[in-house]
Amino acid sequence: MNHDLAGRRVLVAVGGGIAAYKVVDVVRRLLKRGAEVRVMMTRAATRFVHPTTFAAISGAPVGLEMFQDDGNPSVDHLELPHSADIVLVAPATADLMAKMAHGIADDLVATALLAAQCPVLIAPAMNSSMWDHPATQANLQTLTDRGIKLVGPASGEMAAPGEKPGVGRMSEPEEIEAAVANLLHQDKPLAGKRFVITAGRTEEPIDDVRVLTNRSSGRMGVELAREVFQRGAEVILVHGSMDVAPPEGIRAIRIGTAEEMKREVQEVASDADCMLYVAAVSDWRPKNAYKGKMKREAMDGPPAIEMVENPDIAKETAPLCKGLRVGFALEVDARDEIALDKMKRKGLDVILLNHVSAIGGASSSLTWLTMDGERDQSPDAPKRELASWVVLRIIERLSPSA
Ligand SMILES: Cc1cc2nc3c(=O)[nH]c(=O)nc-3n(C[C@H](O)[C@H](O)[C@H](O)COP(=O)(O)O)c2cc1C
Repeated sequence: MNHDLAGRRVLVAVGGGIAAYKVVDVVRRLLKRGAEVRVMMTRAATRFVHPTTFAAISGAPVGLEMFQDDGNPSVDHLELPHSADIVLVAPATADLMAKMAHGIADDLVATALLAAQCPVLIAPAMNSSMWDHPATQANLQTLTDRGIKLVGPASGEMAAPGEKPGVGRMSEPEEIEAAVANLLHQDKPLAGKRFVITAGRTEEPIDDVRVLTNRSSGRMGVELAREVFQRGAEVILVHGSMDVAPPEGIRAIRIGTAEEMKREVQEVASDADCMLYVAAVSDWRPKNAYKGKMKREAMDGPPAIEMVENPDIAKETAPLCKGLRVGFALEVDARDEIALDKMKRKGLDVILLNHVSAIGGASSSLTWLTMDGERDQSPDAPKRELASWVVLRIIERLSPSA
């Protein structure tokens, strides 16, 4: 099976047209190619296909409502589009096209479409009288002028009995699948760029069985590695212990201590277009690791462990890199001044500030600060979504014209 869309995230917005049933097949085809598919449906769409069908085949809950019955605010209208690499609108009804063209956001699907920052592909489907109407044609022009991609519609038989054949049929599932795949394959703005990313936690031996380490999970570094790899970059991940596996397709170099990490980073830093220092590196290490295992009975009370300074990997290797150098500052006191000072001391171009509570967690929020005075605040979001947020900003820096 061809898994060429592995790890790519497709958000499918299903509109209220008879062709909604064909979208079940589109979702199935994308899943077969390895894509992660989330589905959201308009209220009208649920009159044609039950959400359970999409939930069952996509293996994920279907986005239906903007407001929850329990009064809690839902953030699906932002989270769904912001964690997608592409949004497919199928069938794109005359109504959804009109809403998109005019920025109307009166339900979950319309709002998510307004919030989408990734490429959007529409597969229109409607009766030819609706398609030919000047209002629909004007909306189509607005959408394509804005860079929205189009697949179909095809000409042929209409769904309603007795209607003359005309233009307005939704494209067949295989054509829609191919259009999604083409767009995802084109979306490689980092092709030819090499990224070196450090991730995870270092482990400094106290004796042959005990180590000095920290609570970093490695998740942020792995999500960043996945994100830049999917956008075409070559990735070297120099990592310590992690709770998650490195993404497939990248070069992963496993290290134990800070010294080992420094040596590996030194080897590759000068060829990097971008360095991302995400690892949680121990600032100190025991001066002399005890050979064997320290045993309670053999010791005269608890051992006093003398510590020595570890190398500052970012500070020592950033000057070797001629590209963009990005670091993370994990602070209890998450103030800009502290991160800005760290960025200067370590010779970085960008620093991402986050609060110490983020360590080991699944979600967080980041402040993007640069040497030339840019400041941007991310939403509080899962690390995968944050990785997209960071990488979009890095792409702008690496290729300002893109
Ligand atoms: C049987 C039936 C089939 C329909 N098929 C379409 C269609 O193919 N395309 C379309 O634009 N509208 C179609 N409509 C009308 C839409 O369902 C209607 O405009 C609805 O408000 C669209 O809502 P939505 O855009 O939020 O999904 C159909 C309505 C019915 C009752």
